[in-house]
Amino acid sequence: MQPVIISSRTNRQKIPKSSKDLDLVELRRRLHQIPELGFEEYKTSQFISQFLTKWGIEHQIGIAKTGIVVTIKGNRAGRTLAIRADMDALPIQEENKVSYRSSYPGVMHACGHDGHCAIALGVAYHLAKHRNFAGTVKIIFQPAEEGLGGAKAMIEAGVLEAVDAIIGLHLWNNLSVGTVGVREGALMAASEAFNCTILGKGGHGGMPHQTVDAVVVGAFIIQAFQTIVSRNIDPLDAAVITIGQLLAGKKRNVIADIAQLNGTVRYFNPALAQFLPQRIEQVIKGVCELFGANYELDYQQISPSLINHPKITELVRSAALSVVETPPLLVSQCQTLASEDFAYYLEKVPGCFFFLGSANAAKSLNYPHHHPLFDFDESALKTGVEILLKCVENFCI
Ligand code: NI
Repeated sequence: MQPVIISSRTNRQKIPKSSKDLDLVELRRRLHQIPELGFEEYKTSQFISQFLTKWGIEHQIGIAKTGIVVTIKGNRAGRTLAIRADMDALPIQEENKVSYRSSYPGVMHACGHDGHCAIALGVAYHLAKHRNFAGTVKIIFQPAEEGLGGAKAMIEAGVLEAVDAIIGLHLWNNLSVGTVGVREGALMAASEAFNCTILGKGGHGGMPHQTVDAVVVGAFIIQAFQTIVSRNIDPLDAAVITIGQLLAGKKRNVIADIAQLNGTVRYFNPALAQFLPQRIEQVIKGVCELFGANYELDYQQISPSLINHPKITELVRSAALSVVETPPLLVSQCQTLASEDFAYYLEKVPGCFFFLGSANAAKSLNYPHHHPLFDFDESALKTGVEILLKCVENFCI
């Protein structure tokens, strides 16, 4: 699908004066009912486009399949700030019994991306209504954040052209509603994935001397991996190597010829991007040589470390302070070894990604992200809009 421009001139309708026309909770709930997986967000995209058109806001649809870019010019010249919202849902069966639960079996907005879209729509509505800012704001509705390469596809489609800085947020159930998590430097981890196949030699369970036992080789490799983080990396640098999948053998009395070790690697320090894949392969190679096995290794980068730029972080911090008011509600101890493909934008332009606290234990709205009972306190939506509007106001002066 080629990108299509929906022009505000050809499609202009009066921008509603009253913000009664904008109901963030209603927008979020309607999006929550139509969750779609990465690069399949056609209904979501259509829903967003319908509202933008209704409000007379020019936008481009069909970018990287389902992405949308909104361009709003202020009433005076200035720089260009991009704001990004991700649109995709997860292959999870929702267990919430709420009236606005997912209408699609097996697919659910279990990460809050429905909220991100509602917030971005709210920002677009207010900016287009008042235009009392300098420069240009580009709002990027991005498909496929959950590991399918949506950010890369949007960047390749040129959405960062003429952009001076970028801001993104994540509703965050690890923080209480009313709290904002913001810090400069590394906020979220690089994520890498590998599949390793150990090629041994199978045989009779009672005659191991005639075999190369892939299970034993795999077990030694997993043990040796434990020394990479504990003995090769500076203890002040956080890193994780997790083997989440170990597949081997067909019968208890048959020695396995093949073992499959699949894992994920996380770290903050970009300097480890070279070291870790090399060291992991060195360990696999060394152990295989020791036991006379062979191996195949497929190692892939999912996303780099997410590094916030000091100046844009300061912009977000002061905007958040003016909205949440009490300094203790602004936390900097919010690093996580989860990953985010927003990191790709930050490799191209300075920017800041921050966490918008959304948990409310008293209302049982504190299940973790990606849980079938995930939901959040919707009062965070308004806070998100306010912080982003403040960022626009202060950035473009
Ligand atoms: Ni997410």
